[in-house]
Order: sequence, then structure tokens, then C-alpha cells
Amino acid sequence: MTLLAIETSCDETSVAVVRDGKVLSNTVSSQIQIHAEYGGVVPELAAREHLRNLLPVTQAALQAAQVQPDQLDAVAATQGPGLPTALLVGFKAAQAVAFALRKPFLGIHHHEAHLYSPWISGDPPTADFSGFQPNVSLIVSGGHTLLVLVESELKHRVLGSTTDDAAGECFDKTGKLMGLPYPAGPEMDRLSESGNPKAFDFPRPLLNDASDDFSFSGLKTAVRYFVRDHPDSLKEVQSVRDLCASIQAAIVEVLVTKTLRAAKRNGVRCVTASGGVTCNRALRRELTRACAKEGFTLRLAERELCTDNAAMIGILAERKLLAGLKPALFDEEIKPGWILD
Ligand code: KG4
Ligand code: ZN
Repeated sequence: MTLLAIETSCDETSVAVVRDGKVLSNTVSSQIQIHAEYGGVVPELAAREHLRNLLPVTQAALQAAQVQPDQLDAVAATQGPGLPTALLVGFKAAQAVAFALRKPFLGIHHHEAHLYSPWISGDPPTADFSGFQPNVSLIVSGGHTLLVLVESELKHRVLGSTTDDAAGECFDKTGKLMGLPYPAGPEMDRLSESGNPKAFDFPRPLLNDASDDFSFSGLKTAVRYFVRDHPDSLKEVQSVRDLCASIQAAIVEVLVTKTLRAAKRNGVRCVTASGGVTCNRALRRELTRACAKEGFTLRLAERELCTDNAAMIGILAERKLLAGLKPALFDEEIKPGWILD
């Protein structure tokens, strides 16, 4: 089966061609530079950029895969959650392609696609579910922080989520308080590598809470007050590195501790992680260390599949069609607030 998949839920225009579990191409056009000027994603700009980029990106993906439109067997797109006007661009374009080709169309839940992205690896990236195990999956991005129990393929239950800021948002907002450009996450990761994570003691919100929920706004507020009360801490490069490393350590400790606790409580032996924040080196290291210590198998999404991409949308759509899921009707609409479950 050869599928075309489109992802435009936020600030990445991505198109992939997937065939029999193999990612033949996964073209991504990032809008980060455009939104950086405003310190965050501007929905109207995002939609306009998707409109501008979608056809060239689609053409590039088909070319890279050496696939002609008439060779496609199905078309999929992210249906939600996401920015309404951004979602509309990819979703409606994908429906139009499927309609023109008289092929089945499938709308995919963005987070459900993240859940299976850690099972895609290699060159070319290929989905391998032969070793699939029930797992607890951590999804950490700029917009979401979720813990999900994946009981079997295509069957999952949300355990917890953030009650306020997402983990990536916390990186971005605390980085902004330190004067780092948007999105601050990757830069905080880089600066932290030569910083002391124990230099400053920041709160670990909900670390010992019985629930699987997260909360990061208290940490953000603690950093705001710290920076206000210690303006000199931003003048020295080493002190900024120490601050980054200390904030990062707080975020990572909460994510790792709560993920492993949820895995233990639910009796699974496997942990997976995906989403933009999974690019973070300290998070990857700490999850690896903790899972090895506690005897869990760990599957981290490959870096290029951590951030938003259409490959994961195509892989999940293919699994769903093979599992017998009925294609969507052409009057289906986007679901910007779609909750996983
Ligand atoms: O999944 P993603 O590309 O987009 C969505 O938010 O859906 O994630 C982007 C988020 C941003 O908040 C960004 O700062 C964060 O992921 N991020 C990182 C790193 N790379 C990306 N945060 C910490 N360390 C990184 N290396
Ligand atoms: Zn995402």
C-alpha cells in the first residue's frame, strides 16, 4: 500500500510517502524562523505559510519517493488537535487529492501518531511492530505533555496530561525570561551541557503527586521571580548555563520520574517517548539511565521523527487501513480540540 500523508497542525508543513511500513520520503518545511520574530506561533501566519508551502513540499515528497500521484492507494492528514486554520490547509488539501484520485482518505489524531513514532527507525525509516510490547508512552512537545498507556496496537488510554503549561512551553518561556530566542528549548539544551544542574534548586511540580498529571507553570513562575531578584545571574555566561541546566534538570526529573512510576503501576515492561522535547539530550540520557536501572525496554523516537512530521501520520494511517478501519467521508471536518481516547 502506498500512502501520501500531510501534517499541518502547527508550524511545520510536512508531507510523507509511506509504502508497506517504509517511509519513502518525509519532507518537512519548518516555519520556526518566521514565528521567532513574534516569540511564538502566530496562527494566521502559520496558515498562510502552510498555504504557500504545501504544494511545493508535496511535489518534493513525491519526487524524493519516486512516486507518481496515480500510484497512491490512500491519502491521510492530521485531523487534530492543532491550530484550526493550520489544520484546515493540510486536511482539506488531502481530502481534495483523495477525491481527485478516487482513493480512500483518513483523518489522523496527531498524538495517536506520536504514540507509534518510536517504532519507526533505520534508514530508510521503517515501522517495525514485530517486537511491540504494551508500553507507557510520554508525549512531550511545545503544546502537549501526555502520559498514555498503549495496551496493544491501536488501543490506548490517557493516564495524565499537563494541567497548564506543556514541558516544551516551559523550556520556551523560561528561556525567554533569560533572553534566549524562540524556541528556547534547543538552546537551553545546548547551554545546559556545560552548566551545573545542581547550581540552583527549582521546584519539581507534582513530582510526588499520586496522579499522572503534570504542571509546569509553577516552575516558570519560580524562574521569573529568581531572575527578577537576581538580575546579575544573567550577566555571566557560566551562570546562564547553570540556570539552564538547573531548570532543565527540574523538567527532566519530573518527566522521567512520573513516566517510570506510571509504567510500574500499569505493569508494562516498555517505555516510549516522542514529541519535540524528546530531542533533549538530558531527557534522552536520563530516560535511558532510569529504564536500564529499573529493567524497562526504552524506545525513543528518532530525532527527526520527534518533532512534527507526516511520516508518523502515514505510518499510523496505513496500520489503521490494514486493520480494517473504514476510510473517512469527504464531509469530515478538522477537530482542533480533539482529545486522545
Ligand atoms: O513537537 P514539536 O516540534 O511541536 C509542537 O509543539 O507540537 O515541539 C516543539 C517544542 C518546542 O517547545 C521546543 O522548544 C522543544 O520542543 N524542543 C526542545 C528541544 N528541541 C525542541 N526542548 C528541549 N530540548 C531540546 N533539544
Ligand atoms: Zn507533535
